[in-house]
Amino acid sequence: MFDRKHSCVVVVGAQWGDEGKGKLVDVLAEQADVVVRYQGGANAGHTVVVGDRQFVLHQIPSGILHAGAICVVGNGVVLDPETFFAELDELGGQGIDVAGRLFISDRAHVVLPYHKLLDQASEKHQQIGTTGRGIGPTYEDKIGRRGVRVADLCRAETARAMLAERVERANALLQLLGSAQRASLEEHLELVERLSVRLRPLATDTGRLVFRALRDGRRVLMEGAQGALLDVDHGTYPFVTSSNTTAGGAAIGAGIGPTEIDGVLGVVKAYTTRVGNGPLPTEAKGEVESRLRDLGGEFGATTGRPRRCGWFDATVVRYSVRVNGLTGLAVTKLDVLDSFDEIPVGVSYRLDGEECDDVPSDVELLERVEPVYETLPGWGKSTTSARRLADLPPQARAYLDRLQDLAGAPIRYVSVGTRRDQIIEV
Ligand code: IMP
Repeated sequence: MFDRKHSCVVVVGAQWGDEGKGKLVDVLAEQADVVVRYQGGANAGHTVVVGDRQFVLHQIPSGILHAGAICVVGNGVVLDPETFFAELDELGGQGIDVAGRLFISDRAHVVLPYHKLLDQASEKHQQIGTTGRGIGPTYEDKIGRRGVRVADLCRAETARAMLAERVERANALLQLLGSAQRASLEEHLELVERLSVRLRPLATDTGRLVFRALRDGRRVLMEGAQGALLDVDHGTYPFVTSSNTTAGGAAIGAGIGPTEIDGVLGVVKAYTTRVGNGPLPTEAKGEVESRLRDLGGEFGATTGRPRRCGWFDATVVRYSVRVNGLTGLAVTKLDVLDSFDEIPVGVSYRLDGEECDDVPSDVELLERVEPVYETLPGWGKSTTSARRLADLPPQARAYLDRLQDLAGAPIRYVSVGTRRDQIIEV
């Protein structure tokens, strides 16, 4: 994706998240100087396998596993400082040195314990199936202009004054929501004392850092979290996360202008999964779903929840190409389909007897659509050692060609296993 004309590339999930962005970011980070996370928070779980070691990163950009990469947590992220430092310490324990190459935007908003209590209490009223990490309430506070930012947390005196008021407000809300839980001001003050010291040296104007890197001719990789169908504007609202997961969110969440972005890579699984509630038109049932889940190891990296599984939904990916402006696709987990005799692909929908080839805005309509399937022959062979397209069985190549035609964007990468080297560059 990087070349002389492309020095700022965004990687986004083009389905409902968990497409394997962590692996693609890890592969592309090898060519990048700076890697930026720009939205979401500890709700994400990016799994990267390096040799015989597996890393699950929630808030730190997956680029951290490359010794040369500068990693940035952008202003669009909601930072949970407690779990962020736990993750950092764990990386340190595994010998990953981050000194001098990890920065956090001082404009990023902070997830506090009361946000998590509010998230859990809200779920009792509206069952979205959130990760319970306080994401929604923190973004609500940001938009409501009562958030606490990293810059505030760095000034312990300011933070203390803010927290007294915020904790009181949160407790009133918890009562309103019928929750018996209450946030403790002491716990919040203790957290500020403990973490502001660690935050201060990392906090900076990261938008300026990224801008300067681009002006100096460096390569910047923007790492999205979740997927397009979980975008608060373009996803299956209200069954979405609370940030803009689509590529437009990258400019805002990293603090640069949209004209800086040269390319957008959309990561898609060779089939479809979703965790949490909401419509999933091509969801498989019974044995087929369990088989996809077992073969693909489809359990949430953050919550451990079993993912709902189904066939590739081309309508969703076509939509994703449109709302993200995708310039390329990376198809992951092709190997999971190796043993299927036949592989259905959802090519469009039928809605009340009419053909429908786009994702309807109304979630109730999307609940009602019936996918129109085309069945492609399986290949019945392992693809895990393929390193070039020519190494793939002809049926697997035909499957990829069909996905590309239906989606309307060129396939640039195909991943055939969890390891770094199990990738085909097209
Ligand atoms: P929240 O982001 O925790 O508020 O959860 C809102 C919805 O987004 C729920 O359906 C979650 O399961 C889903 N979600 C959030 N983060 C991820 C992710 O990283 N992968 C997949 N689904 C996610």
